[in-house]
Amino acid sequence: MAAINEVTDLTHDGDVAVVTVDSPPVNALSSNVRAGIDTAVKQANESDATAIVLICAGRTFIAGADITEFGGAAKGPSLRDVQDTLENSNVPVVAAIHGTALGGGLELALCAHYRIAVPSARCGLPEVNLGLLPGAGGTQRLPRIVGVEKSLQMIAFGDHVPAADCHEMGLVDEMAVEGQLLEDATAFARRIVAEDRPLAKVSNLNDKLVADPQVFADFRAANAKKFRGFEAPEAIIQCVEAAVNGSFDEGMRVERELFTGLMEGTQSKAQRHLFFAERQAWKIPDVPKDTEVIPVESVGIIGAGTMGGGIAMNYANAGIPVTIIETSQEAMDRGLAVVRANYERSAKRGRFTMEEAERRIARIAPSLDMNDLADVDMVVEAVFERMDVKQDIFRRLDEICRPGAILATNTSALDIDQIAAVTSRPEWVIGMHFFSPANVMKLVEVVRAEKTSIPVINTTMQISKRIGKVAALVRVCPGFVGNRILASRRQVSDALMNAGAMPWEIDKAIFDFGFAMGPFQMSDLAGLDLGWVKEESAGRTIRERLNELDRRGQKAGAGFYDYDENRTPTPSPITEEIVREFAAKSGAEARDWTSEEIVERVNLTMANEGAKILEEGMAIRSSDIDVIWVHGYNWPRYWGGPMFWADTQGLGNVVARLEELTAAEGDHWAPAGLLKQLAEDGKSFSDF
Ligand code: CAA
Repeated sequence: MAAINEVTDLTHDGDVAVVTVDSPPVNALSSNVRAGIDTAVKQANESDATAIVLICAGRTFIAGADITEFGGAAKGPSLRDVQDTLENSNVPVVAAIHGTALGGGLELALCAHYRIAVPSARCGLPEVNLGLLPGAGGTQRLPRIVGVEKSLQMIAFGDHVPAADCHEMGLVDEMAVEGQLLEDATAFARRIVAEDRPLAKVSNLNDKLVADPQVFADFRAANAKKFRGFEAPEAIIQCVEAAVNGSFDEGMRVERELFTGLMEGTQSKAQRHLFFAERQAWKIPDVPKDTEVIPVESVGIIGAGTMGGGIAMNYANAGIPVTIIETSQEAMDRGLAVVRANYERSAKRGRFTMEEAERRIARIAPSLDMNDLADVDMVVEAVFERMDVKQDIFRRLDEICRPGAILATNTSALDIDQIAAVTSRPEWVIGMHFFSPANVMKLVEVVRAEKTSIPVINTTMQISKRIGKVAALVRVCPGFVGNRILASRRQVSDALMNAGAMPWEIDKAIFDFGFAMGPFQMSDLAGLDLGWVKEESAGRTIRERLNELDRRGQKAGAGFYDYDENRTPTPSPITEEIVREFAAKSGAEARDWTSEEIVERVNLTMANEGAKILEEGMAIRSSDIDVIWVHGYNWPRYWGGPMFWADTQGLGNVVARLEELTAAEGDHWAPAGLLKQLAEDGKSFSDF
C-alpha cells in the first residue's frame, strides 16, 4: 500500500492499479482529494498497470465538490485538471461507485472510461439544490449519455438516480454485486483490457444530442411554477441547449460562464447557507453526542383533528404504531376518513402502492379511551389551544402513562412550563410544534421547557429525524420562534394596510419576493374569524369590520379578497373602501407603496424580532431561525431565511434603516441590542 497523501492510496492488484480515496465523511473533492487522485493516476500511468480502478472507502463514492471550500482561494489541481488526467490516462480507468456519486463526484466519474456500481448506489447532479449547476462538464457530458430530456430532468431537479436506472440509461456500464465492488471492478477492468475495449471518452459521443427546440420550451413551461424565482434551473436549461447547439468546447465555455455567475450570486450563497444550517440544527451544545436515546416504538396521539391526523401519519409512515384518541366516535370517523383520503391520494399519485397505503393506515389504531395509552413510549397531544383543556389532559396522562414515557404537546403558542407543571414528571414533558398540514410540512419546532431532561430533548430530536422532519430546538416564549416572527410580520403588514397599502399590493410584493402567498391571502385561507369574538367586535380594526360584514375569509366566499366559486381571489372594492377609510382616519399621508418598501419593512421587522429571540436565548443560532422559516413557512430558499437576508443587507445598513424608521414612526422599530452590537462590531448574524 502506498499512501499518496493522507486521503489517497495507490495499490496494485496484479496488473490493476487501485486508487482509493478515504476522506470522511463523504469523500468530498477537497484540494487534498483532488491532488491525491491526480498524483495517483499519473503514478499508475507510469507503472506497468494495464488498468486503473478508482474507488472510495467509507460510506460513499465522492459526494461532490467540498462545499466548505467554496469561495476560498483555489489550491492544487482543479477538478478539471483531475478530469483531464483521468480522461487522458493511457490505460482504462474504471470508476467503482457505492453510496452516492454526486455533483463533482459524478462529473469525475464521467471522465473515467467506464463506470461500475453496486445496486444500492445512486448517481446525481444535485448542484441545483445549492443554487448552482454542475460546473465541471456535467451539463455537457450527461446529455451525451442519457439524452436531452433525461438529463434536463436529472440536472434541473437534482434527482439521485438508483444504479439500476443508471445502468439502463448507460450512465453505469456494469453492475457489481453488493458488498464486492472492488473485486467486481477489478475483474471488469481486466475484462476491458482482455477485450481490448477503447478508452471511451464521453465528450466524443454525439448521437444522443438531438432535440427539437420545443423540448426546451415545453420543459420550461411545464416547470415554470416550481422554478419560479430560482436562477439555477434556467441556467441549466441554457447549458443543455448549448450542448445540443454547439461543439463540446463551446458548451463547456457556456457552462463555465453561467456557473461563475451563479457561484458569485446571492442565491447560491443562500442555498449553501441552508445546506449547512439544516445539518447544524441537529447539533445542540448541551446535548452531547453520546446522550441516551430513549427507545420509542409506540406512540399515542390525542386528537384526530387536522393536526392529530397529520401527526399520526408521520409516525405511521416511519413504521411506528400509533394509538389515536378521540372523545367521540363521530370525531374519530371524520379524522380517520381524512387520513385515509390523504393516503389514497398519495397512492393515486404513485408515491407508493395502495397496499402500502393500507399498511400505513393499519398502523393507526383508533381508541376512545385514554387508558389505552398506558404502555406507549411517547404521547403527542394535539387538541385545540386552550390551557385548561391541555392541563386536564396532561394530568390524566400523568396518571395513565407508564414512567419513562415522553409526554409531548403540539401547542403552537401556550406556555409549556404551565402544562408540565400539572404533572409529577415535568422533565418528561416537551413541545413538538408541527406545522399544518402536518403530514406535508417538514418542520417541527422542538420546544424544551424549563425542566425537560437532556435525554428527552435528544430523543425528541432523534424521533423527529426518524419521521422525516427537519427539527430546530427552541425555548418557551409566546409563539415560540416561528409564530413569534409571524406575529411581527402580521403587525407590520397590518400597519402598512392601516397606512393605506392595499392587502393585494402587500401580498403581491411578498409573492414576488418568493413566498407562495402573502399574509392577507394566508389570513383569508385560515379564516379571518380566528380569535374574533362577535360580541366584543366594535369595528376597531379592518379585520373586525370585515368579520362584521361576514367577510370571514375563503370559506365565506369573501375576506380581504372576493372569491369566485373556484376560490380565485380578486381585489375587493369593499375592502378597498374600508382600507381607505382607516388610512384617512389614521392621518397617514396618502401615498403609493412600492414592492421594495413593503418587502424591506416586513423583512426588517422579522430580522429584528429574530435578533430579540437570539438575545433572549430562545433559539440557539440564527441559522436555526432560517431553517424554521424555510421549512415551516415556505420562506424562499434562494433568500436563505430572514436572518440570512439581514446578513446580505449588511447589519450596519439594517440598523441604520431601523433607526430611521424609529425616528419617523416610533419605538416599535427600535433595533434589538444584539443587532446593534453585531453591527457595531462589523459582524453578521452568522458570526453569533
Ligand atoms: N462538501 C462538504 N461537506 C459535505 C458535503 C460536501 N459536498 N456533503 C456532505 N457534507 C458533510 C455534511 O455537512 C455533514 O457534515 P456534519 O456531519 O459535520 O454535519 C456530513 O458531510 C454528512 O452529511 P449528511 O449529514 O448530509 O449525511 P447523509 O448520509 O444524510 O447524506 C449525502 C450524504 C447524500 C452525500 C449528502 O450529504 C449530500 O447530499 N451532500 C451534498 C451533495 C452535493 O450537493 N454535491 C454537489 C456539491 S457541488 C459540486 O459538486 C459542484 C462542482 O462540482 C463544482
